[in-house]
Amino acid sequence: MSDADRVFQSYGRSCNNPAFYEDFYNNFMQKSPEIRAMFVNTNMEAQRALLRGGIMWLVMHARGLPDTKIRALGESHSRDKMNINPMYYGMWVDALMETLQKYDTEFSADLEQCWRRSLRPAIEMIQSMY
Ligand code: HEM
Repeated sequence: MSDADRVFQSYGRSCNNPAFYEDFYNNFMQKSPEIRAMFVNTNMEAQRALLRGGIMWLVMHARGLPDTKIRALGESHSRDKMNINPMYYGMWVDALMETLQKYDTEFSADLEQCWRRSLRPAIEMIQSMY
């Protein structure tokens, strides 16, 4: 099975559990007070739903879908809009891996590398649009 297929199935085993997204933001916000501060005025219920779609875009991009949605994320997170410094994406991916480890019953070190390889091109595109 290709990396992109393994990642798609891994997300399929995880994405339907609402607690996944709560845990993700807890893990992510624990990484830095700056990150926590960015979400103080955010409706987290809505944000968790948006994240669900956002991760799906990354996963679908790895499976060959066009980069339209990735570019839209690059645009919305850019300096002139939400101003998300590229340094935060490493923490975002780490938080995602910690959350997957908890919710995907078939998670492994090998699958983690698969995820990281698959997400890299989209993440680099978003960072480069800063
Ligand atoms: C590739 C990884 C990421 C994905 C898929 C993602 C996804 C999203 C989505 C879908 C939204 C809703 C608005 C929109 O569609 O643009 C959003 C908003 C937001 N994201 Fe991200 N994001 C990512 C990385 C980050 C990082 C690293 C940060 C840094 C802390 C961040 C901070 C925010 C903030 C502050 C908002 C606005 C919240 C509000 O409306 O109050 N995101 N993100």
